[in-house]
Amino acid sequence: MSDSEFFHSGEAKKTQVQTMFDGIARRYDFLNHFLSLGTDLYWRRKSVHALQLKDGQVLLDVATGTGDQGFSALKAADVRVVGLDFSFNMLELAKKKIDARQLSRKFEVVQGDAENLPFQDNTFDALSISYGIRNVGTISAALGEFYRVLKPGGRMSILEFSEPQGWFFGRLYRFYFDHILPKLAGVMSSKSAYTYLPESVRHFPDRHDFKALLTSEGFHHVKHQDLTFGITAIYNGVK
Ligand SMILES: C[S@@+](CC[C@H](N)C(=O)[O-])C[C@H]1O[C@@H](n2cnc3c(N)ncnc32)[C@H](O)[C@@H]1O
Repeated sequence: MSDSEFFHSGEAKKTQVQTMFDGIARRYDFLNHFLSLGTDLYWRRKSVHALQLKDGQVLLDVATGTGDQGFSALKAADVRVVGLDFSFNMLELAKKKIDARQLSRKFEVVQGDAENLPFQDNTFDALSISYGIRNVGTISAALGEFYRVLKPGGRMSILEFSEPQGWFFGRLYRFYFDHILPKLAGVMSSKSAYTYLPESVRHFPDRHDFKALLTSEGFHHVKHQDLTFGITAIYNGVK
């Protein structure tokens, strides 16, 4: 899929993204761990740590996919997790993993849209989203919903790919992302999904602009932390 074939925002993007994740769900976990060389587990831990979860709290994990961010949160504290995603196939895999780990009393999944959350105002103590915000149709609409469903004082942690800033590592990374990754993924899964990946990272707002967006949606204590030379970043905010 080329740049011009992919919509960058709005409803059309949502439909394409949903179809794409339904299509790659079966291979998603394997590719995630393989292509990140297992580093995603460390990135998730860092993102969960920023939430400062306390026993008894309820976490909403938006765009939960196959549930790995939720499992990471359950290792950090005795919380309850609600995982929301609009891909039926991703959620089916999350459910299988929840059952296999006997966590169904702690982790429930809900099919729904990040831009129109099926929850009342001020419901959750904390909210996470990992590698999901880049994929939503309209980022500000999703952020507005995150703010709405968080309780006052609730923490949010957003984990997302970003473009590394150093000249040398930046070039190396772009070469891997643009040329190696789509080929590897093409052999094992869907080439178009992993052509979309670098393209969507390029279209995501830079660190400064994204933090400004969080502030404009009402979040305070907004900050970011680069991980692994800046190929991933954590953004935090408090309602
Ligand atoms: C790259 S996966 C990340 C999954 C998981 N959070 C993880 O870290 O492995 C992105 C997920 O976002 C979901 N997604 C994208 N846009 C969404 C939306 N508007 N509402 C709900 N889920 C969405 C996709 O279905 C997919 O499961």
